[in-house]
Formats: sequence, C-alpha cells, structure tokens
Amino acid sequence: MRTETPPTVRLEDYRPSDHLIDRVELDVRLDPHDTRVTARLAIRPNPAGRPGAPLVLDGDDLRLLALDLDGQPLAPAAFRVAPSALTLPEPPGRPFTLTIETRIDPSANTKLMGLYRSNGVYCTQCEADGFRRITYFLDRPDVMAVYTTRIEAEEAQAPVLLGNGNPVESGRIEGTGRHFAVWHDPHPKPAYLFALVGGCLDRVAKSFDTREGRTVELAVHVEPGKAERAAYALDAVERSMVWDERAFGRAYDLDVFNVVAVSDFNMGAMENKGLNIFNDKFVLASPETATDADYAAIEAIIAHEYFHNWSGNRVTCRDWFQLCLKEGLTVFRDQEFSSDMRSRDVHRIGEVRTLRARQFPEDAGPLAHPVRPRQYAEINNFYTATVYEKGAEIVRMLRTLVGESAFRAGMDRYFSDNDGRAATVEDFLVAFEAESGRDLARFAEWYERPGTPRVAVTGTYDAAERTYRLDFRQTRPGAGDDAPPLVIPVRLGLVGPDGPLGEATCPQVEDGVFVLDAFEAALTFDDVTAPPVPSLFRGFSAPVRVDMAMDDADRLTLLRHDSDGFNRWEAAQRVAARLMIGALRGAATDAGADAFAAALGAFLDARALDDPAFAALVLALPSENDLADEIGAEIDPDAICSARRALRVRIGASLNPRLRALRDALAEPAGTPFSPDAASAGRRSLRSAALDLIAAADPADGTALARAQIAAATNMTDRLAGLSTLALLPGSAREAEFAAFAECYVDEPLVLDKWFAIQATIPEDGTIERVRRLQTHPAFAMTNPNRVRALVGSFALANPTQFNRADGAGFALTAETVLALDRTNPQVAARLMTAFGSWRRLEPVRRAAAESALRRILATPGLSRDVTDIAGRSLA
Ligand code: ARG
Ligand code: ZN
Repeated sequence: MRTETPPTVRLEDYRPSDHLIDRVELDVRLDPHDTRVTARLAIRPNPAGRPGAPLVLDGDDLRLLALDLDGQPLAPAAFRVAPSALTLPEPPGRPFTLTIETRIDPSANTKLMGLYRSNGVYCTQCEADGFRRITYFLDRPDVMAVYTTRIEAEEAQAPVLLGNGNPVESGRIEGTGRHFAVWHDPHPKPAYLFALVGGCLDRVAKSFDTREGRTVELAVHVEPGKAERAAYALDAVERSMVWDERAFGRAYDLDVFNVVAVSDFNMGAMENKGLNIFNDKFVLASPETATDADYAAIEAIIAHEYFHNWSGNRVTCRDWFQLCLKEGLTVFRDQEFSSDMRSRDVHRIGEVRTLRARQFPEDAGPLAHPVRPRQYAEINNFYTATVYEKGAEIVRMLRTLVGESAFRAGMDRYFSDNDGRAATVEDFLVAFEAESGRDLARFAEWYERPGTPRVAVTGTYDAAERTYRLDFRQTRPGAGDDAPPLVIPVRLGLVGPDGPLGEATCPQVEDGVFVLDAFEAALTFDDVTAPPVPSLFRGFSAPVRVDMAMDDADRLTLLRHDSDGFNRWEAAQRVAARLMIGALRGAATDAGADAFAAALGAFLDARALDDPAFAALVLALPSENDLADEIGAEIDPDAICSARRALRVRIGASLNPRLRALRDALAEPAGTPFSPDAASAGRRSLRSAALDLIAAADPADGTALARAQIAAATNMTDRLAGLSTLALLPGSAREAEFAAFAECYVDEPLVLDKWFAIQATIPEDGTIERVRRLQTHPAFAMTNPNRVRALVGSFALANPTQFNRADGAGFALTAETVLALDRTNPQVAARLMTAFGSWRRLEPVRRAAAESALRRILATPGLSRDVTDIAGRSLA
C-alpha cells in the first residue's frame, strides 16, 4: 500500500452544497456485527447551489444493500457506489426521497468514529465526519435536517435505547426478543450532532423546570452498578442549566436531556443534541476514586457540552474552518461558569497554565495554525489548543474591548440573528459591532494568523515631572512579515511600595484597560509620586508573551501588593523562572534563590491560610515544559530538570518548618466528610504542595510523610498526592506503595490510569523500561484511548527528560506506539504524535533523534491520513 498525500480542503474553496436534506428518517436495527441502517432522506436542490449538479453523498467504509428513489429501485446505471461515496450523476431537479440501506459492523469499528460498541454498549461519535460511517449523506455542517430515529435491538442486550430529541414511541416486537424506540428531534441539525445509544445502563435522574416553563427530565446513564458515581455529574448538569439561563439568557429546548458515559471514547465528550456522550472519565466520580481535579474537570466538561446546546447546536458552524466559532466560544462560556462556581483568580491561573502548556508550544512549532485555519488535510487534527483555548481568549479579549454590557447584548444578538443557522466568525463579530458601535475589522486579525505575539515594554519614571511612561512594542513571530499589528487589550495599573497607586491617571487608560493597536505606542501616567512597579496584562488580558526587564525585588512587590490575583501569581512565577533559567546558564546566585524563598515564606505567613488554593499555585513553580517554552531554542531537558530540582530543594529546605506547620494547620479533623468544593480542594492542594517541597529537600522525611498521607487518606486526592510525591523518591518505599495501589484498584480502570500516568512521568532513566513493562500489564489495553493516553500519552507529553532522551529511546517507544495504534485508531495515534511538536527547539543531538523517529513514522507504508498529516506537517 502506498501512502497518499492527503488532499487539502481550503476555506477559499467553500461553496454552498448543491443539494439540501430537510428531513431524515433513520431506522437502525442494531446487531453486534450486522447492523442495518435504512435512511429515508428528503432531498431537494439548493437554490444557492449549481443547478443540475450531481448528487455526491459522503460515505466511509459503507456497504450498500439497497437504493430507492421515490419508492422505486434505482437502475444500476443511475448511480455509482463505492465505500466512500454514493453518486447520482443526474439527480431529479426537484425535491425527492432517497432511501438507502447500508450494513455496518459496530464490533469491528476500532476507530471509534461512527457507530461502535464500547464494553457492549452501542454508541456513536459523528463529529467531525463520522455520520458518513453510518449512512451515505451530505456530511457537512451547513446541511441541516430534522431527524426521526427508530432504534431497534435485542432487548436483553440493549434494554436502554436513546436518540436525539424527545422520545416518541417504544415497544416490543413480539416473539423476537427485540424492542424499539422512536426519537424525534424537532431542531434542524447537521449530521455531526446525530447520536444514538443502546445498552445495559443504570441511571440517575431528576426533573428541572426551565425559566421558560418547560419541565425537563435530566438523566445521566452509566455502566450498571455505577449510578452513585453519576450524582456529581447530574448536579453539574442542573447547575449548568441554571447558570446559562442567568448568565446568557439561554434556556434548554427539549423535554429530556441525556448524558451517557462510555469507557472507550476518542475525546472528552460530545454535544449531540439532547444526548451528550461522554468519556466516562469525565462523568464518574466518588471520593474514593476521583481527585479534586477530576471533579473540577467533570463540572467543566458537563458544562461545556451543555453550553454547546446554544453555542454549537442552535447556532452551528457553516464549515469546519469555523470550528472556533463553537469551540472557542464554548470554552469561554465553560471557563466563566467554572469561575463562578469556584475562585475566579485561581481558575484564571489554571486557564493560563493550560494555555501556556499546550497552546504556546503549539503556536511556536511546526503544527502552528490560525485560530481559524485556512486549510486542512484531516479536520480531526484541528481540535487543538489553538482552536479551543486561544479561541476562548479571543472571545475574552472581545469582552474586554466592548465592555460587559455590550458583550452580553452582542451575544444575545448573535444567538437570535443566527438561531437555526450555520454561521461564520464574521456573523459572530458583526453582532458585537452592532451592539458596541466599534469597528472590529482589525480585531478580526486574531483569527487569521498563527504565532504568539510578543509585547516588549519599558518603563521610565520622571521624578521631576512626577510622570511614569510606558513604551509598548508588539511583534508577531510566526505570523509572517506582512502581518498587521493586532488589537491588544492591556489591562494594567501601577503599584507602589505599599499597594496600588490609585491616584495615577492616564487618558488612554479606560476602566483600567489600554488598547494597544499599533506596533508601537507610549502611555504617560501623571501624578505618580514615587517610582512605581507596573502591573501589566492583569488577568492575562491578552494571549501574548510579555518582555519587560524587571528586578526580582519589584516583582516581589507585585506578589505582595498587586490588586490583581493573576499578576500576584505571575510575579512569583517570573522570579522562579528567571532563577532556574539563570542557574542552568550558570548565572544564578544562591542569594537570589534565598531572597525568593524568604519572600515566599513571608507570603505564606500573610496569605496561605486565607487562600490555600492560590498559595498552592504560587508554590508550584513553573514546570519543566514551561521553562522549555520560555527558553525556546537549543533545549536540554535534563539541564532544565536539574535546575528546577535545585531550586525546589533550596526552597524546601529554607521553608521546611513553615511548610510543616502549614500542613498541620490545614489537616482536616478526623471524621470530616469529603467535599469536592473549591475551598476544601484548595486546602488539600496546599497541603500536598507543601509535602512536595518538603520531600524535595529531605527525601527521608518526604517518604515518611507521603506514606503517612497515603495510609491516612480518606479520599483519592490525598492518596494520589502522596503517591505523586513518592514517585520522585527512588527506593523500595515507592515500589511498595505502587504495588499496594495496584492491588487495591485492580477493578477500577480509571483509577489505574492515574497509576499508569504517575509511573510514566518519573524523570528517571528506568522509566522507559517501566513503561514497556506496563504496556503488558493486564489492565493496559491499546484499544482503550484512556489507557493509551494515561500511559504513553503521559510519557510523551509530560515526561520531558525521558521522552526527549538523548539516545532516542523515548522517541522510539512513542513512535512504536503511534504506529501500532494507527492500524486501529488513527485519531488517537495522531493525537499522541503531537508530542513531537516541539522537536525543532531541542539541542542538536536530541533534535536529530526526534527527526529520525518522525521520518521513520512518515515512511511507514499504509499510514493513516491522520498520522500522515501530523508527521508531514511536523517535518515541513
Ligand atoms: N465537540 C466536541 C467538544 O469539544 C469535541 C469532539 C471532537 N471529536 C473529534 N473526533 N474530533 O466538546
Ligand atoms: Zn466543544
């Protein structure tokens, strides 16, 4: 087999479909190997299309059994069929009904796209282009139809049958052991939002009254025996509905809302209309099996998928180039929800950490692309941090620019003007132009080019004039030499030795925001009585890198006194990063590290107990990947790891008594029932951050404390934190705890995933062997995406020293896994491959090893389009 260069789809080639499909009646007779699908499609020529054009329906791996037009079998000469397309060269130039019968094998579907079985449960995943694996169709988001779905199955095998929309009818088919259910979805939708489920499932449910007076049955369906682990997800559904009504005026629009958790799922979850299907990792939670981070992720993803009901489903995307229209906006909405449910500052810091960890490196490497890409070979490779996370930052900047009330009015207008339509980024922006009176043409540039902008800032104080001047200069690395300046909202203020300088004023700063819209600009503040420290990009008001020379002492003033929580945290991060990068360049001083430790100590004394979650984030220090991203070239991950370890040792040693006292002060009194709320989670996170630093400086003490924490743990958060600390302390205690953990959770795959991940991220030479050994563990399965991501994904994406080993062994292990997985699940294989995305930034020896692994992958015969696309772009 020869590897084809995948054909490229381009935004500029968009044209409306030549045909439309108004109604779909699907009859799906489920069978493990021989599922029959009959689709009755009401088709008509699109007035906006080309008259007389052929009808070309998409297919993928389909077998046609029968084909009728208006009830008459179609003559063989009137159509052409292949697994990948069904063509009518001369379709009627009027509305007609096409009835198509296809046959599919859900059990053989290892790609987990289209209809497949997960642990015996029939389920579907159609975004982006999986519906064409169920029946021939115009599988593009601007073709929207009203669906009626009849699902039939053996009752013992699939007692629960779920579809999109509202239930209409159900019953037994006497004498056959089979039964059926009919679902009708009155809202026209693109095929990617189609879903069905059939299986043995338990459920938790409750009724919810929308503010429009509709009573909705909310239900979460899970594997038998796991219903009590679905309670938190159900509660999150209800809170999401309440919040969207209040924050965006959006109410739910069907009589039922179903969530189903399945164990084999390529992504996090999917917003199918009225029937969200989830990776069970983002539904199931109990104190004994889920960490605080799991609870937070469940809350966020439940909300995300629910919010898509308006931003994605009621208003969908015209084409896949507009993916950020639904994803960036919906991430913004779920971030706002989580911020309202939790601590806003703490959540914002988490958002920025994710953006910097995932999107900044993507934007700086060979896989960089605009938030609205202009071309793709495989759309499933564009569900990226850039589209999602940077897409959300664009929406946040828009809100900062137009202000809270015009933003809300613009959202209302966007929803009402585009309800039931497949829209574009332009449709989105025009709503805010109308409500704010602001021209957003130049702002729209944020969608168009890749690369993280840099903003260089210098500050000059004039004591005689009592003025402070800030000079800004923006550059756009990676965007091309002809790139115009961006419109960048800079939220800022000045801070003095005792706190924010409220009296300093500047005419270009409105409500604390300066809009930088040229390559260069200067600001002058008046009435500045002493040299100030500028607090720039408060709340991370734009997704840029900021270059400003500043003394550690000034940054530590911000840590102490800034009114902005994000910048208080950022100040400590900057100092830590400078110390670590200085150390690996041989330019750091112990005095600098000691001054930083002292400042952290003072900070902990003053604030730790008031806001433990925030304090834990301050103690976390920039990660190895953060530092690599900041260094940017000729990266030596081992040097980074040692520099980081050295600073942690120094801080841990210097703060030891304080950290121990903090742990004691934060301990829960025995018998306190577990609660996943943000405050309790914050106390747990600070206790564990303290443990981690204690252990860095004093391994013996750390081992004893970690083991004690594991032994005393009443919840997975504390237990796992103890284990993570131990993972960095080689020795028999660690191995004993790993073994005990595995024994305890032998029947809990999602818990064993945590165990796989911790071991895969140990920064030691033996880890490769450990990962290879774990790949043969009975709980590991290449067919389950969660297992692969936990073990090999964690290794490749979160173990920088071992993935990037100079001898190439880490690249080889990852490449082998990619190639093995590509034969069954190309989407997950391609996702794993993105670990190679920063290879060009490595020092030469590692760079050469990474390149040869990439070339080996690309040269493999029979490679999927998904992996070919990533490998090809990585090497380009
Ligand atoms: N729309 C889903 C979400 O963000 C993601 C589905 C992506 N699936 C895929 N195969 N590309 O909520
Ligand atoms: Zn989404």
